[in-house]
Amino acid sequence: MNRRVLIVGSGGQLGIELFREFGARGYEVTGLKRAELDIADPVKVDHCIAGLDPAFVINAAAYNMVDVAEKEPAAAFQVNALAVRNLAVACRQADATLVHFSTDYVFDGEKGTPYVEEDETHPLGAYAVSKLAGELYARAYLEKALVIRTSGVFGPQGLNTARGNFIELMLRLAKSHQPIKVVEDHVASPTYSPVLAARTADLVERRAHGIYHAGGGTPISWFEYARLIFRLAGLEPELRPTNEREYRTAARRPRYSALSNNKLEASGVEPFPSLETAVRSYLQLRERYATTS
Ligand SMILES: NC(=O)c1ccc[n+]([C@@H]2O[C@H](COP(=O)([O-])OP(=O)(O)OC[C@H]3O[C@@H](n4cnc5c(N)ncnc54)[C@H](OP(=O)(O)O)[C@@H]3O)[C@@H](O)[C@H]2O)c1
Repeated sequence: MNRRVLIVGSGGQLGIELFREFGARGYEVTGLKRAELDIADPVKVDHCIAGLDPAFVINAAAYNMVDVAEKEPAAAFQVNALAVRNLAVACRQADATLVHFSTDYVFDGEKGTPYVEEDETHPLGAYAVSKLAGELYARAYLEKALVIRTSGVFGPQGLNTARGNFIELMLRLAKSHQPIKVVEDHVASPTYSPVLAARTADLVERRAHGIYHAGGGTPISWFEYARLIFRLAGLEPELRPTNEREYRTAARRPRYSALSNNKLEASGVEPFPSLETAVRSYLQLRERYATTS
């Protein structure tokens, strides 16, 4: 059986963990960072996939700058939608399964309880539209693409990426000794990337296809999440709640975008650990990254 796996976008928070997870499970893994393969280049994508002949192509690459995307929607669409089309077309030629990641932001947040896969999508901005288009491209060209929607991803690689993640932002702000304002009227389900990588491998091994939600499993407001981070990190900055009206961003965001993992768990995949367990693990790993790098 062909156990070759190609991971594109392998330098990101999720990509690096997917590389580790599939490697640990005995797959023959090739990880390509952006500098090694720009997925927006259809000729290079085609050439790479045809040459490697993988059984699975896992797309961890994305344009994730939600607010900047409002100024440059074409750049977001290029990576999150058209590049997914490049991957899907090449996978079709090579008979490879495409595993693609999408976002809780495909929803408008009006539902108020965790979103299930069948819920109607209604993206609120350029980033969200581009991610929904990526899902459609993956599923347009391939009968058995696996699309995994996730939420608020955090992993220790966030220490080394320009974009980072919410925990790194909070730790950085705490050092400024200024009051920190965080919205209390937006809820998501923050997702720990090493666990997401393991659950992805579980789905791949079950030959799952179609859309699956894999969020961290704990719906929480960003304010409460910040409070949890500071408690576990042993920090006591001045943390103040704010709201969407007071804290305007370029992009509209769903107020409530937590994801239900019911379908994932019904397929026999283990539930995510609690957010507290995940953040504790993150902070420990982070310390190890900081002392060994
Ligand atoms: N982060 C979140 O909060 C969040 C929330 C919901 C869903 N998601 C989804 O989860 C998945 C993983 O996200 P993540 O947090 O791991 O993101 P990340 O840490 O920002 O990593 C994304 C990676 O994609 C690379 N990339 C960007 N454009 C590329 C291109 N044209 N060709 C090849 N690589 C390219 C980036 O490289 P450079 O750094 O060099 O640009 C980066 O290494 C994505 O599909 C994302 O949309 C993330």
